[in-house]
Amino acid sequence: MAVNFRGRSLLTLLDLSRDDVRYLLDVSHLLKAERTAFQVQQRFRGKTLAMLFEKRSTRTRCAFETAFGEEGGHPVFLSSSDIQLGAKESIEDTARVLGRMFDAIMFRGFSQETVEILDEYAGVPVYNGLTDMFHPTQVLADLMTMEEQFGQLAGLDFVYAGDGRNNMANSLMVGCALMGVNCTILAPDSLYPKSELVDTVKQIAYDSGSTLNITSSREEAIPGADVVYTDVWVSMGEEEKSGERMQLLSPYRVDGDMMGMTENPGTVFMHCLPAVKGNEVTAGVIEGPASVVWDEAENRKHTIKALMAASLL
Ligand code: CP
Ligand code: NVA
Repeated sequence: MAVNFRGRSLLTLLDLSRDDVRYLLDVSHLLKAERTAFQVQQRFRGKTLAMLFEKRSTRTRCAFETAFGEEGGHPVFLSSSDIQLGAKESIEDTARVLGRMFDAIMFRGFSQETVEILDEYAGVPVYNGLTDMFHPTQVLADLMTMEEQFGQLAGLDFVYAGDGRNNMANSLMVGCALMGVNCTILAPDSLYPKSELVDTVKQIAYDSGSTLNITSSREEAIPGADVVYTDVWVSMGEEEKSGERMQLLSPYRVDGDMMGMTENPGTVFMHCLPAVKGNEVTAGVIEGPASVVWDEAENRKHTIKALMAASLL
């Protein structure tokens, strides 16, 4: 089906259809091939992007900034210590002002509500570069990387091990369900995803012919996995939970033993990064032959460029 993404925002993958994701991934593969052949254009010439950051970032900031800049656009980095967002000026007013000056806005921060308000008031596309609840642009890169590894998405068996209620688990569940990937969230039961989101995602999975399974059993989750994915045990903004998380999540560390339990020689290891080696993943696994984390990081740039091209051109 033809997809017209022009003018659209990306706040959560729940707003996308399977065709939307397919379209964004197709454009991502094209743009990666182009860039690999040194064929960068000037697609964003004369355009401006506001980049609002309440939290730190390496990959997301650099992906947006370099993807926009190398195509001739002008990205402007604004941390929360630079602008009035939510401090002296309401989010609504900030959105209205930025919407008059910029062609698009990306936001990284705490509340999902902030990115929703920005979208409601800005009048230009708004991209969620991570909130406490969702990290949709990361999952576009993850799906692209899986497609590069396996040639297809539908029917793959994907396991996420770790904090099952953080932004990555939430977004990966949705992305997998949309694209027909069987997803298992392996987590202690106190860190299971919210049941309301699970119910919504189960319906999406049903529609795509895939499954969503939530379990605390490694023996149930891991055998046969094509992808083992993990994320930090303590997300940005939750630092005070560090001690509790170490205790809860140690049994879910991705180590050689867990990778061996897949009994699948083709299993790949993925991580959105940054990684705390020795916590959620051992150095042996992330540095080992199954790891595709550097491709995954690079693909942030291609998928983010594709998203901006689809919505701005
Ligand atoms: N994966 C990711 O979003 O990395 P950053 O926090 O460095 O942007
Ligand atoms: N769950 C992590 C993801 C970082 C990309 C965090 O929010 O800190």
